[in-house]
Amino acid sequence: MSKGKPRLVRLALSMQLWRAAQMEMFIMRRFAVVSLICLVASVALTARAGDVALEAGITIKDVMNQAHKKPKQLLKKAATGRATDAEKAELLTLYKALAAATPSKGDKSQWQERTDAMVSAAQAAVDGKPDAGTLLTKAANCAACHSAHK
Ligand code: HEC
Repeated sequence: MSKGKPRLVRLALSMQLWRAAQMEMFIMRRFAVVSLICLVASVALTARAGDVALEAGITIKDVMNQAHKKPKQLLKKAATGRATDAEKAELLTLYKALAAATPSKGDKSQWQERTDAMVSAAQAAVDGKPDAGTLLTKAANCAACHSAHK
């Protein structure tokens, strides 16, 4: 039985290797779970960051197309009292973006005055004020603004 001992040692060694492998598997699995959680979290965060970027990236053209043109024509709907709460809120978001934008033509302080009046009128619509329609029609003067800034 002179070879018995090394065989036992080898067995013990391989048992240890097996255990180590098991341990490694366990850690790997934990690691996989943690990285999956991280992945889901980062996807969720990126999606939220995307929303913010979208709001900040609204151009003057976007506002014109969403608020003033068919099929959405949010301004017309809000001015005639046919807009839903969500549509009024969208109009307010668009007009805030318009007020934050810089036109390629015309005086910036005049632009600010015009667009601030549009934001106030859209806010009045969101708040359900009875004169919101009149305010909106007056504030969003297509021809006056286009001749100065378009
Ligand atoms: C506060 C100023 C302002 C008001 C009010 C305004 N616009 Fe504009 N509009 C602009 C500017 C500036 C442009 C040019 C945007 C560009 O070329 O980047 C423009 C462009 C447009 C365009 C072209 C969009 C495109 O994709 O090229 C349309 C259509 C338009 N406006 C419709 C209207 C209508 C309809 C109204 C009235 C209900 C209106 N706008 C009121 C400033 C205004």
